[in-house]
Amino acid sequence: MAFLSWHERFSVGHAELDQQHRRLFELVNHFDDVIQMGMPEELPHIVDDLIRLSEAHFRFEMGLILDTGFPRVVEHGKMHEELLDQVRVMRRSMMVGGHVSPKAVVRFLADWLTSHILREDMEYKPFLTA
Ligand SMILES: [Fe+2]
Ligand SMILES: [Fe+2]
Repeated sequence: MAFLSWHERFSVGHAELDQQHRRLFELVNHFDDVIQMGMPEELPHIVDDLIRLSEAHFRFEMGLILDTGFPRVVEHGKMHEELLDQVRVMRRSMMVGGHVSPKAVVRFLADWLTSHILREDMEYKPFLTA
């Protein structure tokens, strides 16, 4: 069963952004599937994909909202950077065999992604669609 499932309430009203968010959901689900399959050696590669996809998404999203008059654009960018920093730290811990529970990582990613879209990305929605 998929860990995260898409719902209309996640839509920010922009087809490409929604598509990118869906792809991030799929990657988090893939991470969870790989845990279930008992293939921990694959997890760092998925984290790499997740970092790459997130970087591209954040760049695209920031590019779109920069000129909309959305007042919290700087703070928004900071949240993206903080997330990337946290994920890079987790990635390093996984590689050196640190005490990182893959389940805790996937739960963190799922929570971050869903709450960021619902609380933060939703704030720019009216500016984007204006
Ligand atoms: Fe986003
Ligand atoms: Fe965002």
